[in-house]
Amino acid sequence: MRILTGIQPSGTTHLGNYFGYFKQNVDLLGEEENLLMIADLHALTSVHSGDELREYRQSLVRDFLACGFDPNKGSLFFQSYVPGHAELAWILGCVTPMGLLERAVSYKDKVQRGLEANAGLFTYPVLQAADILIYDADTVPVGKDQVQHIEMASDIAKKFNNRYGKDLLVSPVPRVVKEVALIPGIDGQKMSKSYGNIIPMFGEEKVVEKAIMGIVTDSKGVEDAKDPDESIVFAIHALMLDAAEQKDLADKYRNGGLGYGDAKKMLLETFFDYFGPMRKKHADLKESELEEAVQMGAKHAKGIASQTMERVITAVGLV
Ligand code: ADP
Ligand code: TRP
Repeated sequence: MRILTGIQPSGTTHLGNYFGYFKQNVDLLGEEENLLMIADLHALTSVHSGDELREYRQSLVRDFLACGFDPNKGSLFFQSYVPGHAELAWILGCVTPMGLLERAVSYKDKVQRGLEANAGLFTYPVLQAADILIYDADTVPVGKDQVQHIEMASDIAKKFNNRYGKDLLVSPVPRVVKEVALIPGIDGQKMSKSYGNIIPMFGEEKVVEKAIMGIVTDSKGVEDAKDPDESIVFAIHALMLDAAEQKDLADKYRNGGLGYGDAKKMLLETFFDYFGPMRKKHADLKESELEEAVQMGAKHAKGIASQTMERVITAVGLV
């Protein structure tokens, strides 16, 4: 089995990304052949400053390595380092019906949220199909919001095979990563860089402290009993605790006597215990280690991609 997944370098890594994406992908390492792609071409649809994109790409590599991605167990690489992605996207675009793209919900969502309605954003799923099909990836671990894109990749592979010959491209299946409930941000909505409600995993201490101390609470006093299931502070804290610790903490909330100020200080302490080793690694990683990891990943990725491209360009008549 070959697993491919991707993430856009389009913002600062936060706790939602860690528990909803990074952790699962690091845990999957070594299980199968793993390809983890930083989708920098896709990020061009929303990041429109060269300096910003450069910074997000670099920091995502650092973040992954700090979170335990071992470049000897999987391939971490930039999409733009493998030219076949853009080339295959064009070829696939020529078998993709307009109607298929018009049904994509993410395009409508993004335009509604204010993203520029450019052709890149509209054909985003075709490039994503190329990302997957170029590696004959059969499994794609993603969050629920990406399932439609993977199904589209599968439809596009079938169209291609119908036109040019069966079994040329492998139809992928989405593997919805362990159903992680959406992690709430400090205001209780889904934590997202677009909502300004994040706790940045690798942010400076003061920034993390400000975010955690700013988590929205109700107006219950110190002595009041509190329902842990209603508390954002508890929901975030529980992510970093085992079952017994969660129960202990829930009892403290229910018994009264624990004020929100102290509950947040406890969360802050847990945060630094939990992420301390990763934050240290993050600070210690050298630029050369980042470069070495992505070069190694790209070399492996290019080897697979070139075999698929050979097959594809021969089938369509470009050689
Ligand atoms: P953002 O919502 O901040 O823009 P992205 O869409 O770039 O984040 O998400 C990158 C990955 O992190 C995706 O796989 C997504 O499913 C996961 N993710 C992002 N926010 C959350 C969250 N609040 N809870 C769980 N997973 C999340
Ligand atoms: N569209 C995905 C996201 O926004 C990122 C992505 C790009 C991707 N190419 C991919 C995910 C290929 C899985 C497979 O999260």
